[in-house]
Amino acid sequence: MASVQGEEVVDRVRQYNDIVEVITDYVALKRSGKNYFGLCPFHPEKTPSFSVSPEKQMFYCFGCQTGGDVFSFIMKKEGLDFRGALEFLADRAGIELPQPGSAGGQASRERQELYRVLEGAARYFENLLRSGPGEPARRYLKDRGLDPETVERFRLGYAGRSWDGLLKAFTRQGIELARLEQAGLILPRRDGSGYYDRFRDRVIFPIRDRRGRVIGFGGRSLNDGTPKYLNSPETALFHKRETWYALDLAREEIRRTGTVLVVEGYMDAIAGHQYGFKNVVASLGTSLTLEQARILSTLASEVVISYDADAAGTTATMRGLEILSKQGLRVRVVTLPVDADPDSFLRSSGAEAFKGLLAGALPLVEYRFRRVLKKHGTSTVEGKVRVVREIVPTLAEIENEVERSAYIEKFSHQLGVREDSLRHEVGKYRQRKRQRRARTWGPGHRNRKIRNNRDEHRNEQIMAALTAISEKTPLAVQKAEETLVRLVLNRPEIIERIAVGLSPDGFEGFEIESYRKIAGLLAKAYRDSIAAGKGFDTRQVLSVFDDEQTRSLVSRLLIEEGLDRLESEKVLNDCIITIKVHKMKKRRFEITRIIAEREGKGVPIEKELLEEYQELSRCIEEMERQR
Ligand code: CTP
Ligand code: MN
Repeated sequence: MASVQGEEVVDRVRQYNDIVEVITDYVALKRSGKNYFGLCPFHPEKTPSFSVSPEKQMFYCFGCQTGGDVFSFIMKKEGLDFRGALEFLADRAGIELPQPGSAGGQASRERQELYRVLEGAARYFENLLRSGPGEPARRYLKDRGLDPETVERFRLGYAGRSWDGLLKAFTRQGIELARLEQAGLILPRRDGSGYYDRFRDRVIFPIRDRRGRVIGFGGRSLNDGTPKYLNSPETALFHKRETWYALDLAREEIRRTGTVLVVEGYMDAIAGHQYGFKNVVASLGTSLTLEQARILSTLASEVVISYDADAAGTTATMRGLEILSKQGLRVRVVTLPVDADPDSFLRSSGAEAFKGLLAGALPLVEYRFRRVLKKHGTSTVEGKVRVVREIVPTLAEIENEVERSAYIEKFSHQLGVREDSLRHEVGKYRQRKRQRRARTWGPGHRNRKIRNNRDEHRNEQIMAALTAISEKTPLAVQKAEETLVRLVLNRPEIIERIAVGLSPDGFEGFEIESYRKIAGLLAKAYRDSIAAGKGFDTRQVLSVFDDEQTRSLVSRLLIEEGLDRLESEKVLNDCIITIKVHKMKKRRFEITRIIAEREGKGVPIEKELLEEYQELSRCIEEMERQR
């Protein structure tokens, strides 16, 4: 077992690695009720049976019975041992581990070092903005309507005119050139005679990760020199594909509202926040990636896109919207006036007008329809045919029948074609697609089926082993034990009450071995921590169990739906009664057997045995009345 100090570190690392966020890096998760669901990364599947509980900080796959906490997940996914997973997650959270000995520790130290350098650079730029030479940049930001609070909140800065201001300042502090280069802050001179600063005479926008750590910078020219924006290169910490600008500031609001407002530029995001739209993030001018879409899909169910009119229409943007939509996000598109972007619109027309635009944002399907309408026109038959041809695939993709039908009706009216002819075209397209898919997937289907069967078979074996279901234990008793275990896992504070209720056997009397083990270990851990004068943190409940099978089972018990319903006194009492009645009936049956045996042999029967029999019968009757 880990030392006390070790446990503290483990808890800290756990605390700073929200399981939903960690898993989001691997699995696209969608919220449904209390939990998140996605496709299991540990076995092939087409419908999500992998669930993550933010409340319990656990995951469990109903398909392959894999489950555990954030450490188990990283161990399995990254193929690491516990120490490796600990280092991995500590690094992710920016926590330094005591005596990191391994190679992983080395890499982790280098990343820490990079974070420190980038944080230092952000501070350096911030200070310059406040200094004498920062005056033009200050004026620039003021002219662009930014409040001082906004400037501070986004930690805007200024890179001076000199070619080596940052270089000198940082090397004076003893920071190695290699480190500065790795951080993307300096570049080697072409003639090989040393380095120079990447950012010069620019307003600096620090780019931060989801947790607010600086990972890169964008620099805007003050005088529309080219390039207008200069950004950090890809580094060990900065991956453009998976970064959203301002996500650290917008995250809470996105989660709260379920909607994220996506804009293109730094200035659009900043203006959005300043005008009170706290759920704005910026995509930073590149086309959207799957990684970015995944991140949003774990936070929100709806994306509203507000790009400037030019950008919104491009194929690259449309592809991006497609990606978002494929992640299961509802996508709507805001139409801004020509030549406006969110920043300029907010400045010229204000927050209320912008709210109006947001309210009128078109669902992606409709937005596409408008575009093809505009492109081909509806005044000629030819135009109509073209519009139909282009919009049919979009309509055919809508899986919800009511929705598809409603759009067919709406679009046919707007287009001035007969509803049934558009419906027919869409139907034909869907038919063809089904056939295509059947051809492509035909042979694979069989394999999948075989594999599924094999999975099912394996699952049965595991379940049987896990719960050690004895044929003699009635299902109701198994269920009752399971329910009690779930109750105590969720609320360890009721463990003593249940133990007393089950006396004299307590949890020792559980018929199912795995439940007996879980309840026993939990009771011990709970009592130990109370005896030590500490509270018992439910979030650490998994660390009580050290074999992976038990951890998986515990995860399932914790994560399964329906816990709220279980948390009632009535359920608790019913379970206890079920178990106790079962025990008494078993004993009564045993006595019956003994009596029958003795009678058969003509041996006299002890009075005590008969009394016990009567007492049991009385108790059983009374308990069953209590239900
Ligand atoms: N961008 C970039 N490099 C460029 C141009 C643009 O990285 N040379 C990115 C920036 O993130 C920028 C975004 O694309 O914020 C949108 O570009 P654009 O609309 O041209 O700039 P704005 O954000 O509107 O900037 P500004 O309002 O300052 O002109
Ligand atoms: Mn702009």
